[in-house]
Amino acid sequence: MRNFDEETITEAVLERVGQARDPRMKQISEALVRHLHGFIREVRPSQAEWEQGIRFLTGTGHMCDDKRQEFILLSDVLGVSMLVDAINHGAAAGATESTVLGPFYVEAAPEKALGANISDGIDGEPLIVTGSVSSLDGKAIAGATIDVWHSDGDGYYDVQQLEETGGLTMRARFRSDANGKFYFWTIRPAAYPIPHDGPVGKMLDAQGRHPWRPAHVHFMISASGYQQLVTHIFADGDQYLDSDVVFGVKDSLIRMFAARPAGVAPDGRILDAPFHHLNYDFGLTPA
Ligand code: BEZ
Ligand code: FE
Repeated sequence: MRNFDEETITEAVLERVGQARDPRMKQISEALVRHLHGFIREVRPSQAEWEQGIRFLTGTGHMCDDKRQEFILLSDVLGVSMLVDAINHGAAAGATESTVLGPFYVEAAPEKALGANISDGIDGEPLIVTGSVSSLDGKAIAGATIDVWHSDGDGYYDVQQLEETGGLTMRARFRSDANGKFYFWTIRPAAYPIPHDGPVGKMLDAQGRHPWRPAHVHFMISASGYQQLVTHIFADGDQYLDSDVVFGVKDSLIRMFAARPAGVAPDGRILDAPFHHLNYDFGLTPA
C-alpha cells in the first residue's frame, strides 16, 4: 500500500494498527487514530501550526521532572482527569464523591495523633477540621487512614516553599477512632493559581482562562475492604467555585468553613481568638 492522500490515509493507518495482538491495544490504537485524524481534518493545521503543536508537546515534556508533571496538569486543565475520574468513580448513594488528586500529594506525610495542629506555627487563621468515616449503610469505620493536605493562607503548599517552611507542613496522616471520627487543627487555606509558569500556563492565557482553584482541603481516605477515596472539600462562598481551572468542584463537596468567635472549640479547647470550623462526614464504597 502506498500513495496515500487525505481520503485514504486514515483507513490505511487503521488497518495497520488493527493488527495489534492484544484486543485492548487494538481498540485503543484504532480509537486514537480515528479521533486524531478527525481532529486534524477539522482543524486543518498549516505546517507552521503543526510545528507549533509539536513544540508545545516537547515543552510540556521538558517541564516534567520528579517534582513537576506538566502532562498531568495539561490533562487536568483540559478536563481529562475529571472525565477519567467520572468514568471510574460513579458515587453510590451515601458515598462521598471523588475529585482530582493534584500534584501536591506526598506519600510520606507524617502520621499525627487526632487533635494535632498540623500547621507547625505557620501564620494563618485557625481552622478545626472534624468529621467521620463510615460505610454506605452508615456504620463507623474505625482505623481508616485519613491523609490530608492543603495550601496556606496565601495559597502555597509546603512543597512549593520548602526553603521557607523548612519541611512538610499543612499535611498529615490520621487514623479514625473507634467511632470512625477524626479531628485536627490547622490554618484556613486560600484559593490559589495552579503552577502556570510553563506551557500549560501559556495555553490557559491563550485560551483566555484564569489559572485559579477555589480554596480546599485535600483528603485521601483508605480502609481495608473499601475503595480508596481521593477528594477535597471546598470552601463555600469561594469566588472560583464555578470556574475551577481543573473542573474539580462538585456541590456535594462544598462546605462552610464556618467562622466562630473566640471561646470553646468543638474539641473542648478554649481559644482566645476567632477560628473556623469545617466538618465533613465521609462515606466509603465497598471494594
Ligand atoms: C490541587 O488541588 O492541588 C491541584 C489539582 C490539579 C492541578 C493543580 C493543583
Ligand atoms: Fe489543592
